[in-house]
Amino acid sequence: MNNTNSINRNTCKVCGLCAEVCPMKIMIKNDSTEISFRQDRLPLCIKCGQCMAVCPTKSFVVEGLSYSKDFFEMPDQIAPDIMFFNMIATRRAVRNFKDKPVPKELLEKIVQAMTFAPPGFTPIKTEITIIQDAEVVRKALPHMIKVYDDLVAAMNNPIARIFIRHKVGAAKYKTIKNHVVPLMKSRLPELKSGKEDTITRHAPSMILLHADRNAENYETDIHIALTYGFLAAHALGLGGSAMDLIPPAIENSRELRRMFSIPESNTVVGSMILGYPKYRYQRGIKRELKGVLWI
Ligand SMILES: Cc1cc2nc3c(=O)[nH]c(=O)nc-3n(C[C@H](O)[C@H](O)[C@H](O)COP(=O)(O)O)c2cc1C
Ligand code: SF4
Ligand code: SF4
Repeated sequence: MNNTNSINRNTCKVCGLCAEVCPMKIMIKNDSTEISFRQDRLPLCIKCGQCMAVCPTKSFVVEGLSYSKDFFEMPDQIAPDIMFFNMIATRRAVRNFKDKPVPKELLEKIVQAMTFAPPGFTPIKTEITIIQDAEVVRKALPHMIKVYDDLVAAMNNPIARIFIRHKVGAAKYKTIKNHVVPLMKSRLPELKSGKEDTITRHAPSMILLHADRNAENYETDIHIALTYGFLAAHALGLGGSAMDLIPPAIENSRELRRMFSIPESNTVVGSMILGYPKYRYQRGIKRELKGVLWI
């Protein structure tokens, strides 16, 4: 990728931290006098910035990164661990919202939280679209309903079923057949009559996470960014939930893609509905992981 990472030898303390943290093990601490680069590995630099983040004297410079632009100083006070665990333990999937818009400053903080999410590797592929207007969400809903109405109808047709299976692959087809269709069959009457909104949940805001469908490794990045977004929303007194029904609806609706300005080349991978929680939960929910093995 590049071979011009450099060390200011006048200020370098030769502490070796940059070599320690580098995921690609590009630097070597030869002895107590010098850090050297492995020339064969320099092209592997993923520009993760770990070396610059750890360097106590700002001596390490990765080509294209700058201390002033790409880094920030650690907050003086790190929140006690108890606050963090309380925060993640009290998060809930919120599907009931107050009829109150989310201020732009809070949406910006959620976006900022997403920028802190770790990417698998750079360049970052995640793109987001923030819908700040409840009216836009409301107008989108009928188009989402139509996609699912069409899907349920198509799944009743043996020829269309073969086509869908071919288009989405075996695993997704199984999910559609066993979960999505039965779910939507039960929900569509209320959705169509306007009695219930079990897709966008009358959310005042929504965030869509998308990426170029030809890019590599974007799905995991997007899910991690989404997770950061949820936690930030919760920390800010908001609530939200992932909505797996929304991305496929957008994928299959020209109107929705246009409404949300999703580029033709992009696929929406994640979505998050967002707003002020209407109800207060009295207690948290305990869950177990499927397996925990200590070795
Ligand atoms: C999906 C995903 C896959 C990753 N895979 C690797 C990996 O194979 N090897 C590795 O050293 N780091 C891996 N990482 C760590 C990233 O390289 C790291 O998060 C990124 O360089 C940013 O560094 P930071 O989050 O510690 O600041 C992965 C991260 C993610 C989110
Ligand atoms: S930017 Fe990352 S990969 Fe590149 S040298 Fe620094 S630590 Fe290593
Ligand atoms: S972390 Fe900084 S001071 Fe330490 S060896 Fe690397 S470049 Fe030098």
